[in-house]
Amino acid sequence: MLESGPEMSLVCLTDFQAHAREHLSKSTRDFIEGGADDSVTRDDNIAAFQRIRLRPRYLRDVSEVDTRTTIQGEEISAPICIAPTGFHCLVWPDGEMSTARAAQAAGICYITSTFASCSLEDIVIAAPEGLRWFQLYVHPDLQLNKQLIQRVESLGFKALVITLDAPVCGNRRHDIRNQLRRNLTLTDLQSPKKGNSIPYFQMTPISTSLCWNDLSWFQSITRLPIILKGILTKEDAELAVKHNVQGIIVSNHGGRQLDEVLASIDALTEVVAAVKGKIEVYLDGGVRTGNDVLKALALGARCIFLGRPILWGLAYKGEHGVKEVLNILTNEFHTSMALTGCRSVAEINRNLIQFSRL
Ligand code: FNR
Repeated sequence: MLESGPEMSLVCLTDFQAHAREHLSKSTRDFIEGGADDSVTRDDNIAAFQRIRLRPRYLRDVSEVDTRTTIQGEEISAPICIAPTGFHCLVWPDGEMSTARAAQAAGICYITSTFASCSLEDIVIAAPEGLRWFQLYVHPDLQLNKQLIQRVESLGFKALVITLDAPVCGNRRHDIRNQLRRNLTLTDLQSPKKGNSIPYFQMTPISTSLCWNDLSWFQSITRLPIILKGILTKEDAELAVKHNVQGIIVSNHGGRQLDEVLASIDALTEVVAAVKGKIEVYLDGGVRTGNDVLKALALGARCIFLGRPILWGLAYKGEHGVKEVLNILTNEFHTSMALTGCRSVAEINRNLIQFSRL
C-alpha cells in the first residue's frame, strides 16, 4: 500500500517502478522484482528489446491509427494485456478485483492467476463484462484441477492458460531470505470443503510429472481454448501445435524460474517460425514501452502481456493506477505506430525492425 505525494507525475512505466520501489515493504518489493539466481534473464528481457532498432516509414497518412486487434477471436482495444501474477492483495486491499476493473475499463484481457488472493467469484462480480483468461498451475490431484477448470468455465473465463515453466519453483534468493512463503495465503486452490485460507505452500503443490501426453486429458474436460505459457524453443512450439493447443505465450516467467534462458523477445522468432501461423503466439517479459510492443508484434506476437508493471500500477493507486499504466503504454504504442507509419496492427511487420550490432 502506498502513499502518493501531491506533486506526483508518473509518465512512463519505469516511473511506476521507481514509485513502487520507494513505497512498498522490502519483502513485497523483493517478491515482485525478484529474478531467479543472478537475475541474468530478468535483466536481459529488458536489454534484448533495446538491442533492436526500428526502420520507420514516412508519408503514409497516420491521421488515424487503430490499435485494436483480436486474440482467440475476441476484440481487444490494444495488443497490451495483463499476465498472470499472484497475490495482488499484497499491494492493494482488494487486489485482483481492482486489476479486473481496470482491465475491463481498458477493454483488454486479464489472465487471472491460480494464486489470486481474491476468489474467482469476487473477481468476476467486480468486472463481469471483462475479457478474462485463467492461468492454471497444474495440481498433482487431477480431480482438483477438474473442479477448478469447471468452475472457471462456468464463471465465463474464455481460455485456459497452462504454465509449463514451473514444475519446481526457481531459486529466488530474496524470497528465501525474507521467508516470504510462510506468510502468503490464498483462497482458490483449496478443497471446497475447507473453509479459510491456508498457507499456499502446503495447500498448492504444482505437478512435477506433467507431460505432453497429459494435455489430451485437459482437452477432454474443457471446451476452453488451451494456451501454453512458458515455451522458449522451436522444439516445444512444434509439439504444442502437434498437440492441438490454441496458443503459446513465449515467456521465461519474467526471469523468475530458470535463469540464463533466452530473453523472451530473442526466443520469439524461432517459436513464430515453428508454428507457421497455425496458432496464435503471444509474448511476455520485459515489455516496458510502446516501442517494445511494436517490436514484439513486428516479430510475430499477436499481443503482449505485462507482469510487474501491473503490480506497480496497482501499488500506486489500485484500479486507477493499473488504468494509468495501461493508458500510458497504449498511448506510447499509438505514437510508435504513427512514427513508423503503421495505421493498423495488421501493418506492423518484420521490415520495421533490425537487430542492432551493439
Ligand atoms: C509472476 N508470473 C506468474 N506466472 C504465472 O503463470 N502464474 C503466476 O501466478 C505468476 N505470478 C507472478 C508473480 C510475480 C510477482 C511476477 C513478477 C511474475 C510471471 C508473469 O506471468 C510473467 O510471465 C512475467 O511477469 C512477465 O515479465 P514482466 O512483464 O514482469 O517483465
